[in-house]
Amino acid sequence: MINIILCGGSGTRLWPISRKLYPKQFCKFIDEESLFQKTLKRNAELCERNIVVTNSEQYFLALDQLEELNIKNSQFLLEPIGRNTAAAITLACFALKQDDIVLVTPSDHLIKNKKEYRRILEEAENLAREDKLVTFGIKPNYAETGFGYIEAHGNDVLSFKEKPDIETATLYLQKGNYYWNSGMFVFKVSVYLEELKTHAPTIFKTAQKAYSNAIKENPFRLRFEDMIEIPSKSIDYAVMEKSNKIKVVPCDIQWSDLGSFESLYENLYKDKDGNVISEKDITLNSKNNLILSRDRIVSTIDIEDLIIVDTPDALLISKKGNSHKVKEIIEKLEKKG
Ligand code: GDD
Ligand code: MG
Repeated sequence: MINIILCGGSGTRLWPISRKLYPKQFCKFIDEESLFQKTLKRNAELCERNIVVTNSEQYFLALDQLEELNIKNSQFLLEPIGRNTAAAITLACFALKQDDIVLVTPSDHLIKNKKEYRRILEEAENLAREDKLVTFGIKPNYAETGFGYIEAHGNDVLSFKEKPDIETATLYLQKGNYYWNSGMFVFKVSVYLEELKTHAPTIFKTAQKAYSNAIKENPFRLRFEDMIEIPSKSIDYAVMEKSNKIKVVPCDIQWSDLGSFESLYENLYKDKDGNVISEKDITLNSKNNLILSRDRIVSTIDIEDLIIVDTPDALLISKKGNSHKVKEIIEKLEKKG
């Protein structure tokens, strides 16, 4: 299998740690390793090589982090502008052989159960050889609206709905036969490209042109004039909601999309008072807080359930549970210029 690693997103929900030029997949939250590095390592054990698709601005950051690990056989594909995941995956597929089997993975997830991960990839690879587009189903535990939902019966997919509204997500949760889409996919290159051609012909055509005009060295470089022509759509909307070749492998891999400070809090080590905190910081009578600060000492008195994120040029303080509103802060910041 060949691993396509997507790491062109900007992860703004973790601002001010995650930035356009330093997105969350490259931040070293856990064990002094970034999520991108964890992804590389996890998949290098199972795939013979990888293609990293990222923004040209993040090339040296990604390359440095890759070189810190002893991972060989990487091909970079650089986008001058991101056109979402359908484009990124398609461009990588054009660089491969028709009958290659690929594992597409985001670069910003945490997967704790490696043994189960290995097992589900084997199961998925077998299904992909039978010309199926394979997704992975995670048992949902709340009505998240930022994920895709897979209605399943065994390995069969009855429907796929990307980012439903809260009423629909709540209904899915009650029904019980819906999974969250993990954002990872396994398929044969030819099968994916055929499905894309059928369901999103414009993405297929424009991406094909962009690929043929690319500078094909390592790194591959796409041209801005070609990229801008590709409709910006995720693979979920462009293909997964429409294809009838989808299968699902339900899995229990202890998966987490570190998409918010709340999920980061859940996944990081906590002290006896439930605080995520580094050694230099000092708390008095404070409980269940997430405190992230690299340089300055943070000290707190009598506070609970707060998120405090300190960086050299910006400080965020939020109630735990409300940090999704950071989107509004970014909009305001962008307006200010
Ligand atoms: N190269 C490249 N170019 N990578 C991209 C681009 C792009 O234009 N846009 C996003 N990515 C990368 C992100 O960095 C991330 O690793 C991955 O592709 C997925 O993109 P997200 O933007 O994080 O997608 P999402 O979280 O909204 O939704 C997807 O993941 C969910 C699970 O985490 C969907 O697949 C959902 O269905 C799924 O539930
Ligand atoms: Mg995501």
